[in-house]
Amino acid sequence: MAKTKTTYYCQNCGANSPKWIGKCPSCNEWNTYVEEVVTKSSGQSEKEVWQEESTVRNKPKKIQELEFDEQRRLRTGNAELDRTLGGGIVPGSLVLIGGEPGIGKSTLLLQMAIRMPQVKTLYASGEESLDQIRMRAERIGITAENCFLLAETSLANIMTQAAQLKPDLLIIDSIQTLHTEAIEASVGSISQVRECTGKLMKYAKQTNVPVFLIGHVNKDGAIAGPKVLEHMVDTVLQFEGDRHLSYRILRTSKNRFGSTSELGIYEMREAGLREVTNPSEVLISPREGFLSGVGIGATLEGNRPLLIEVQSLVSTATYGTPQRSTTGFDVKRLNMLLAVLEKRLGVRLSTQDIFLNLAGGLKVVDPALDLSICASIYSSFDDVPIPSSICFSAEVGLGGEIRAVNRIESRITEAAKLGFAQIYVSKHNVKGLDLSKFDIEVKAYSRLAEAFEELFN
Ligand code: TYD
Ligand code: MG
Repeated sequence: MAKTKTTYYCQNCGANSPKWIGKCPSCNEWNTYVEEVVTKSSGQSEKEVWQEESTVRNKPKKIQELEFDEQRRLRTGNAELDRTLGGGIVPGSLVLIGGEPGIGKSTLLLQMAIRMPQVKTLYASGEESLDQIRMRAERIGITAENCFLLAETSLANIMTQAAQLKPDLLIIDSIQTLHTEAIEASVGSISQVRECTGKLMKYAKQTNVPVFLIGHVNKDGAIAGPKVLEHMVDTVLQFEGDRHLSYRILRTSKNRFGSTSELGIYEMREAGLREVTNPSEVLISPREGFLSGVGIGATLEGNRPLLIEVQSLVSTATYGTPQRSTTGFDVKRLNMLLAVLEKRLGVRLSTQDIFLNLAGGLKVVDPALDLSICASIYSSFDDVPIPSSICFSAEVGLGGEIRAVNRIESRITEAAKLGFAQIYVSKHNVKGLDLSKFDIEVKAYSRLAEAFEELFN
């Protein structure tokens, strides 16, 4: 017999409560509780099952008898995606790709599907009609004959079609548009999303077919119903970037089959996403002549060293309160660096408007950018350009000291590879480092004042 019960679910974090509450005690969001009617057909409980003679064929196996062959991973042909996944798609894995609307999730997965000629894929979309998908595919350029499209929101029908088609890979766009008859909650609600994900996981594990889920992200950047989904799936990828700028980063926030410090970089073009294999080249614009306010910082994104261009503009404020505006960088951190420049170096910035931009629309939280930011601000303030052969990689402390950053060797190596002549780092970073092995002059300082003395006179 079917059981009906009503529960209130937080649409943000998935916590539940038997009665409505205004503020979610687990994520502190207001007004997120929604009533959901959950009807479950009563099956056998686990207790009854294990008391019976087992008819299930799935038996425990000795750990030595199992072998995981790296060769069994499916290569997507997309090097950035393969690396982000930890070396290709693991059979039977459930992968969630989250991102804001319009960032390019559908494009990424459709592109993956139509560029794997040897793999039979089923792309089930509840968001777009077949014509729309076809148009998108044409834009990207169709190369595979083995990609099947299905415009469907009913999970039952998708499962039926998958059972008939027997694809090697199933893509669901998006998990929030699916519904299953098993429960009566509305489409996109936490209960529906969880139930559908659970069923898809079962499908993936039993058939060994990898399943990709696209998930929309809510305003806080968490995947809707985040906690619920994230612990159910094997891998969580986040597709980020500024929708109006062309660069996109694919990050792993969870991976049962690989490292979470890998990431992929893409550029959104007219004809789909292009892999960016040498990101530093595109993040630094070629400079003709000298321009003040431009500094190059050597940062790390995941495991990859990246050189990124920092641009700042310092100009006298025309209104009472000067503006502080940043793209890609934390404005609080900028304010801290400005205070250091003001207090420790006596640079009068309090009456100046300051705008700071990181090239390419990337968001960087690495403190190793500090020195390049301070240098670019001073350069704009004083209108003295920084020579384009110099780059920076160090943190700046509150006392105006230059602090060490992690993995300095890969940063220096990357800077040398890109042909920079000098890199400014912290003195504490070079202890025990053989500087002669780098093809670049390493300048080490312990105080901001000393570094600026050298740089700007
Ligand atoms: P889409 O994959 O629909 O985003 P999501 O599924 O994450 O919501 O991509 C959206 C944007 O990408 C859209 O604004 C158009 C742009 N785009 C291109 O610039 N080039 C292309 O080849 C394609 C297919 C899309
Ligand atoms: Mg989409």
